[in-house]
Amino acid sequence: MIIEDNIETFNSLLKRRGFIWGPSPEIYGGFAGFYSYGPAGMALKNNILDIFRRECRYFGFGEVECPTIMPSIVWEASGHLERFIDPVIRCNKCNTLYRADKFLQENLPDQLIDGLSFKEMENLIKKSNFACPKCDTPFGKIEEYNLMLKTSVGNNTVAYLRPETATTTYLLFNRLDQDARRQYPIKVFQFGKAYRNEISPRQGVLRMRAFDQFELQVFISKELEIEFEDFEEIKNEKLPLLDWKQQEKNINKASLITLANAIKEGILKKPAYAYCLFIGYHLTKILGIPKPLIRFRQHSINERAHYADDAWDLEIKTRQFGWVEICGVHDRTDYDLRKHAEYSRQSFEVSMGSDPKIKEVPQVLEIAFGIDRIIYALLETTFTIDQGRIILKINPYLAPNTVAVFPLVKNKEKIRNLAIKIHRGLLENRIKSFYDAAGSIGKRYRRQDELGTKWCVTIDYESLDDNTVTIRERDSMDQIRVNISALTEVIKKKQEE
Ligand code: GLY
Repeated sequence: MIIEDNIETFNSLLKRRGFIWGPSPEIYGGFAGFYSYGPAGMALKNNILDIFRRECRYFGFGEVECPTIMPSIVWEASGHLERFIDPVIRCNKCNTLYRADKFLQENLPDQLIDGLSFKEMENLIKKSNFACPKCDTPFGKIEEYNLMLKTSVGNNTVAYLRPETATTTYLLFNRLDQDARRQYPIKVFQFGKAYRNEISPRQGVLRMRAFDQFELQVFISKELEIEFEDFEEIKNEKLPLLDWKQQEKNINKASLITLANAIKEGILKKPAYAYCLFIGYHLTKILGIPKPLIRFRQHSINERAHYADDAWDLEIKTRQFGWVEICGVHDRTDYDLRKHAEYSRQSFEVSMGSDPKIKEVPQVLEIAFGIDRIIYALLETTFTIDQGRIILKINPYLAPNTVAVFPLVKNKEKIRNLAIKIHRGLLENRIKSFYDAAGSIGKRYRRQDELGTKWCVTIDYESLDDNTVTIRERDSMDQIRVNISALTEVIKKKQEE
């Protein structure tokens, strides 16, 4: 686990080992809120996506992909142009903008800021006599700052970069209804870029202006939300829940509670929504985030997005930034489909129950992951320093490389050729192998430890005599010798352990 003194080491590891670079473009001084992934970061991201896609299939979700730019009418209908706003305070002298809620959180760390209305924040700023940190001018009123990024398409047609994938998925509703042959609930997800014009973004990849979302949507009837069959299977699962009532009492520790009890006690209203929380929890745990570092925190009415009737954030506890939202589970009711039906003049009323005469606009439940945030949380929570040795104790199926193959010395042709042959053999068996002959063997081990590679295979002089190689395990550094002919099977077996 990361410790204060090591935050710098951790942050430099992200760059040094090719996980995350930026702000981009670095050669021009960087543009705040924009980052690039290096080869290790992309390999990690793709491994996460592979697992998410596999699990989504298991839960019955199909995948869609939509354009990232949509015309104004879409965002008028969705309410984003009017209501996708952050509260800001502007310094009237130096013109610097600050996000009011973040400013208050930083300056009044013991006070509950989540849940305050814009007016309440304004009063608190006045009462606390806060002034601009740059030029000491007292702040005035809170302004609304819209997060949408505007562009123009073709001959000056105004359009916007999507601030979420969700809305673009909803626009496909008629198609999805047909494609699913009206079998409800309809479950789909979309992975892709979203854009938000964040005010002076800090916190690196946690607050990016262009970021990746992985958002699951469930179109469902009101009746099915309550009579949700699959709930039976998971109702005894215990989830760490921190509801809004607890937060108002200044309690910030989540209670482990079964979903059945959460429904019984009215903490959660709908079994189908509870099921969505479970999916969010499952997808996070399967990546190896330790349970004590995960909690669900309910939003207050003021904190919820304009489309949400209930919202819980799945948060992960980080050392550098405290509890960080990585997934939002939203009960969007029929809000979105109603609005798009109205603006597009289409009917989204469908019959979903046993009586075909009864038609209704489906409800939407959403599980919205920020992939960059998951990547950050995974890297931070697996970063370890053990007696000066930096190790990324990440699950082997997520690490950029599963195995690294080293010739002990690179200038012995026979050793090098055998190492390359073994490396290729592993790749042919679809094991993610990385070949490295550069630098001392000690340095090569360190490099792979920092990338999270679980096994390093070394080919030495003995290998030429007896066809054996060493496998060195990342965490214990224990080494075993195995026959080359058994290597693939040994690695495959270890992967399954
Ligand atoms: N689609 C929900 C979100 O972007 O948070």
